[in-house]
Amino acid sequence: MSEKRLPIAEQKLNELLKKIDTPFYIYDADAIKENATRLYDAFSWAPGFTDFFAVKALPNIHILSFLSSLGFGADASSLPELLLSKDAGISSDRIVFTSNDTDAKEFYEAIRMGVILNLDDESHIDRVLETGLPFPKTICFRYNPGPERTGNAIIGNPVEAKYGVTKDQIIGCYERAAKLGATNFGLHTMVASNELDESYIVETARMVFSLVKKIRDEAKVRISFVDLGGGVGIPYRPEDEAIDFYSLSSRIHELYDQMIVKEDLHPLRITFEMGRAITGPYGYLVSRVRHVCHKYKDFVGLDASMADLMRPALYGAYHHITVLGKENKPKDHVYDVTGSLCENNDKFAIDRSLPKIDRGDVFVIHDAGAHSHSMGFNYNAKLRHAEYMILNKRIYKIRRDETYSDYISTMLPDMEEIDGIRL
Ligand SMILES: Cc1ncc(COP(=O)(O)O)c(C=O)c1O
Repeated sequence: MSEKRLPIAEQKLNELLKKIDTPFYIYDADAIKENATRLYDAFSWAPGFTDFFAVKALPNIHILSFLSSLGFGADASSLPELLLSKDAGISSDRIVFTSNDTDAKEFYEAIRMGVILNLDDESHIDRVLETGLPFPKTICFRYNPGPERTGNAIIGNPVEAKYGVTKDQIIGCYERAAKLGATNFGLHTMVASNELDESYIVETARMVFSLVKKIRDEAKVRISFVDLGGGVGIPYRPEDEAIDFYSLSSRIHELYDQMIVKEDLHPLRITFEMGRAITGPYGYLVSRVRHVCHKYKDFVGLDASMADLMRPALYGAYHHITVLGKENKPKDHVYDVTGSLCENNDKFAIDRSLPKIDRGDVFVIHDAGAHSHSMGFNYNAKLRHAEYMILNKRIYKIRRDETYSDYISTMLPDMEEIDGIRL
């Protein structure tokens, strides 16, 4: 069971609501720090342990620089995410570029920035060569085990996935990279998303450790770090159990002793690129009820929409909802909780049992600290909303609301003709 707490005491939240408009996101950095301390403590045995925080989960510069101060690096999936990580003060050697479908231009910038390249495809070696820059000394490959693993509903079955180098390709990739001058090698995989089964993650470590040996034996390349990916789940539903970092770590430690130390592959740096398990439970979307209406079903319409939080519409994901001040009322009404988009999938919950809802009620939507604000979009010209952060028991604004001027700023005031084309 996981307790669904409010980010701050109810009375303080009501005070805050008098000062700022809904909807907004709020992240509890004090709780993120406690969680991070548990993670780093649990893995203190592991050489050079680092979580390269998946920037896509919560790409706010203040959050990234706060995480950096706690020992996190960054996992960036695009050039703007790389730039954001650098601007957040994260040093290049703590940034991994885990991209896919990447062109030489992006690799050029990434190499110039000195970050770690994690190549998603064997042909990316050629894309790197096309940059005309010296081949990087440090290189990592993303491994896709194919039928060896099952994946899950969000990440998909590895056989169907567009990501990673296959079992048949992986040895050749390291051999080629070594010939091109690489001397420091990493091995990455990501075969789960929101995985709450500890054993599945342990099995990923087993698979990766065994591949480290195979690469040493067959490609004659020594892997110096492994990145076990992200995908560690969080308990979105109150009945879900959180992953216990200590238990996970001790099982990986056991494997490390058996498969790495005994095989003379020690020291091997252990890294992850978790996002959700670091910040997910500590973010909240706070929204107000605009109307309650009855059609063929009962609907509660919020001032937020799926443009703020798309996970329920995209994945059918469950996000727990607390109705402020009504926590102890019987949940004896059933509603679809919707947003204001002109799109019928714009629902935060379907057939959710809630207390009787009235116009003006405040909904706190839980577990919105990862892949939430960042997945926002501008359909229906919806503007993105502000983000706040609780730090040392104070509340800071870390992103303002988007304005109409922001929205229109990329549209040119005058049309620009493309020269030389006449149809
Ligand atoms: C390559 C990669 N790494 C890390 C992550 C982070 O996953 P999570 O936030 O679930 O840990 C993702 C998520 O999409 C990903 O695609």
